[in-house]
Parts: sequence; C-alpha cells; structure tokens
Amino acid sequence: VEESVHLELMPTVNRDYIDTNLEEIYEKLLKVRKDVLKALEEARKQDLIRHPYEAKVLLKLPEDYKGLMLDRLDWIKFFFTVSQLEVVDNVDTDIKVESEDIEGLTVGIERAEGEKCPRCWIYDETVGKDGQPICDRCMEQVKIYKNIRYRIIFSFFLYFTQNKMITYTKPKPFVKWAGGKRQIIKVLKENIPETFNRYIEPFVGGGALLFELLPSNAIINDINSELINTYLVIKDNVERLIESLKEHKNNENYYYKIRDLNPSELSKIERASRFIYLNKTCFNGLYRENSKGKFNVPFGKYKNPKILDEENLRAVSFYLCNNNIKIYNKDYKEICELAKKGDFVYLDPPYYPINKTSSFTKYTKYDFTEKDQIELSEVFKSLDKKGCFVMLSNSNTDFIKELYKDFYILEVEAGRYINCKGNLRKKRKLEVLIKNY
Ligand SMILES: C[S@@+](CC[C@H](N)C(=O)[O-])C[C@H]1O[C@@H](n2cnc3c(N)ncnc32)[C@H](O)[C@@H]1O
Repeated sequence: VEESVHLELMPTVNRDYIDTNLEEIYEKLLKVRKDVLKALEEARKQDLIRHPYEAKVLLKLPEDYKGLMLDRLDWIKFFFTVSQLEVVDNVDTDIKVESEDIEGLTVGIERAEGEKCPRCWIYDETVGKDGQPICDRCMEQVKIYKNIRYRIIFSFFLYFTQNKMITYTKPKPFVKWAGGKRQIIKVLKENIPETFNRYIEPFVGGGALLFELLPSNAIINDINSELINTYLVIKDNVERLIESLKEHKNNENYYYKIRDLNPSELSKIERASRFIYLNKTCFNGLYRENSKGKFNVPFGKYKNPKILDEENLRAVSFYLCNNNIKIYNKDYKEICELAKKGDFVYLDPPYYPINKTSSFTKYTKYDFTEKDQIELSEVFKSLDKKGCFVMLSNSNTDFIKELYKDFYILEVEAGRYINCKGNLRKKRKLEVLIKNY
C-alpha cells in the first residue's frame, strides 16, 4: 500500500466480478432511460412538470424488454428518478415519445398521483393517509419517528429541505373542555413520576396532559360517548371528518338544527362532526346534557370560531394511529382495574364543588356526587396498594383534603372557572394535586 492514494496505481479488475449478462441488461435499461429522459424533458418544456419526481412514466415496450422491466418494477422508478412507473399496452398521454433506438418503445408522461412526501420528495398516495405526513416507505425507515425528540429534529429537517414549513405538528386538545388542564399543565408536568410503564387517564376529557406527554403506551377513557366516538373517528377516519366539518355554518338557526339532531340516528363521522361543531360554536365550549341525555348548551354567538383545525386533527390522528393508545368509553372504575404495578394513573374527575353554585360537575346526564368522590378515593387507595403511581386533581376543599390526608397534597393556582363572574375568575389556590409518590 502506498503512502498516499495519489501514488496508487489503478487497481486491476477482479475477473470474478465481470458479469456480461448484467452488463447487457444495464445497456438495455440505459437505452430505455435515454428515451425516458427525453420524454421528461418534453414534459418539462410543456410545463407539465418541473421536476422528474412530479412525473408518472408509462411504458409501452417491445416483447424482449417487457420481462426485463416487469422483473424490476419495485425499483426501476428510482433508476429513472420518477415517482411512479407503469408498463402499459397503449400510451394515451398528451406527452409521448416514440423511441428512435428501440423499435416498439413508446414513453408517455403524466403527472404523478398523490402528494409529495416531504422526506423523500417522491409523490405517493400514502402521504396524508390517516394524518401520516410521509409516505409508507419512509414510515418504515423512520421507526424512530415515534420518539418525540426525533420528531422535532425531523421538523427542522423538513424546514430546511422544503421552502414551506411542512412540519410535524404537536397535537393538542381538539375540543375546549370544562375542567381542561391547560392552565396548570406546567405544574402537572413537574409532578409526573420520573419513569413509568403505561399512562392511564380514566377521565380524559380534552386530554390536556395526554397531549402534553404524548405517551407511546396509554389507556384513555371517558364516560362521554360523543367525546370518545370523536377520538375514535379522528383516529380512523380523519380525512372524512375534515370533509364533513367543512360543511358547517356559524349561524344560530343552523346551530339549533344541528343541536336538535339525534346522535343515535347519525353515522359515526356525522356524530363526531356534530360534536366538534357544537363544541366550537356553543356558549363557552361547554358540554352539558339535560336529564334525558340531550346536549342543551345555547349558541355561543362567536364571530369567527375555528370550527375546523385540519392540521391539528391530522396531528392527533397521527399520534393515535402510530402509538399504542387504547380508547374506552366506560366508567372510570373499570379502567382503574386494568392498571398494573408501575403504571401511572392520572385521575382528573369532575371536581367537588367549592360552593353550591361555583362548580360544574355535570358533564353528562350522570352527576358526580359526594358519594362518587368517596368511592374515587377508595379506588385511589387500591391503585396505591397495587404499586401504581397515582396523581389526582380536585378542588381545594376540606372535604377532599380529608379524603386524601394520607397522601402528598399540593395546592395549585389556576383560574379555570366556567362561571362567568369576574371575581371568581381571579387566580386563587382553588385546586389540589394529590400524589402517592
Ligand atoms: C375534569 S374533566 C377532565 C378534563 C381533562 N383532564 C382535560 O384536560 O380536558 C372530567 C371528565 O370526567 C368524565 N367523567 C365523569 N364521570 C365519569 C365516570 N364515572 N367515568 C369516566 N369518566 C367520567 C367527564 O365526561 C369529563 O370529561
């Protein structure tokens, strides 16, 4: 070996590597490629495409080329640097080139189908499917994508490789929810256990903490079946839900027409669409049912409510589809029975009222009474005995503090009242956070 590569002689070819058959195949493929490039150039001149990846190539081949191409269909499009390729009997496109070298070869060009994958730039129909931001092939490559840190790096990657910001959007709650935890999210985050197995949220509501933590292994649940149906539709049918949400109007007559619909007579997608629509346009984003289980909140009269947030719905869908998130519509007790040692259970029930008029506990036709609070404290204790990490939010009242006196109690500041009276909106230490660790 010479001291420097510049002093080395050209290496002699190892005769074993010579494969005349392969050479012949590549000569033929390169000939076809020449005609494909000619056709692509024509398509570019005629403004059909600006980049070869925007093209789908249609090839009519003579018999002796057919097998050659069909055997290589899985990768030959990369050899031609196009997004899609098909072998056809007839080329019926505006742009077509008859080969001068290969008799019987015609190359046609049309625009590739699907969306551009921001990772590999190839157009593919799997991009955007169920909120997936990249194509199936890239999804396979970036299994690490599930890790939040890599997703942020990936967002930057997209930013620098694309002119526009096709970023990974961090999902956030898709409904405004009474008792939503966004105002004290920092405190909640500071208080979660350092490590745990599964994340379990039996009273998930809008899921403020769920979307903050984005656990990859979780169980979420709520007794509100309209809400849970919406989570499921976002997971499985986000594009159809988005289409349906585009149809809604923000006016009073229309609002009451939609409110009066009976959810049990609607499809799952219509129910989810109605639910999000009512949440965005009703008074204060409240969800309240009368004793017959009928949603009864009046029209909110907002000038420009954001009924449809496509980007977030797709982000939520992507998160739910690509992680192990089990979604239930049961009473919280059944869910707590699923918890095992090492799981982290966050309990955020309807709060015990601070006084008779201040609090809102009636999310559905079932109220959450004093008896329910006592039973919940028993469930808390049984989870503690099992070896789960348990954290619970509730109102800062003597009654609640007495129920959980054997655990750590933290007073938390928040101004999250549904009550409209200004003085009650003032931040006061109205909540407690209770932990067994
Ligand atoms: C305080 S909210 C949860 C808010 C949620 N943490 C958030 O960030 O939006 C309480 C939730 O408990 C649900 N709920 C009430 N009774 C329940 C029960 N018995 N089992 C399960 N969920 C229940 C309500 O539908 C409501 O969504």
